[in-house]
Amino acid sequence: MTNEQIILKTRDFIESRLAGDSSGHDWLHIERVWKLAQTLAKAEGANPDIAQLGALLHDVADWKFYDGDDSEGPRQARQWLESLNAPEELTRQVCDIVAGVSYKGAGTETPMTTLEGKVVQDADRLDAIGAIGIARAFAYGGAHDRLIFDPAEAPQMHSNFEEYKKNKGHTINHFHEKLLLLKDRMLTETGTRMAAERHRFMEIYLEQFHEEWDGQR
Ligand code: ADP
Ligand code: NI
Repeated sequence: MTNEQIILKTRDFIESRLAGDSSGHDWLHIERVWKLAQTLAKAEGANPDIAQLGALLHDVADWKFYDGDDSEGPRQARQWLESLNAPEELTRQVCDIVAGVSYKGAGTETPMTTLEGKVVQDADRLDAIGAIGIARAFAYGGAHDRLIFDPAEAPQMHSNFEEYKKNKGHTINHFHEKLLLLKDRMLTETGTRMAAERHRFMEIYLEQFHEEWDGQR
């Protein structure tokens, strides 16, 4: 099988697997990350096949749905690629990306050593910010019975992954605990530039949100 065929089969596998998900991890999130990864890979000179497969498989088994187990993603990605007889080196590089990509809270570093890994990480983070990121945050909040905002509850900077996993705060806090931090955690130059614009849009949004909340606008 050629890499192109592996990519197309993976695309179909992920689309059918994630169809109907309402947590912000639907197929359309994967498709956006896949497109962003192609844009970034091209601009940064990364291997497009590794970047595309990493993007397609990055949420194959999110820790939030496996009782906090973050080893499930790379395991399932490997199982899938081995079922296609994908080359071992390609499989290894893609699985390393899947293992490294998840956000684990403000105080937890997530190492991503290869250029392709950085591209996928940036693509995933870009989809969490800007106009799309705002929509996804409130969709997630609604699906998890969170308030849009509660002035009585200040944001918390989670110092470790365990604390971040347990948090049940309102959705505006999620901007402070994650979304507004992402622009400084971008790993590629192209991603950094795109994140700056999306970040500015969120700042304007929050300013308007709070002025409306206070009845001033
Ligand atoms: P990613 O797919 O970028 O790894 P996550 O798995 O962390 O993102 O979350 C999926 C989407 O749901 C993201 O857009 C994220 O910002 C949003 N999200 C995650 N946790 C929360 C939360 N506590 N409140 C609001 N939105 C959240
Ligand atoms: Ni994702």
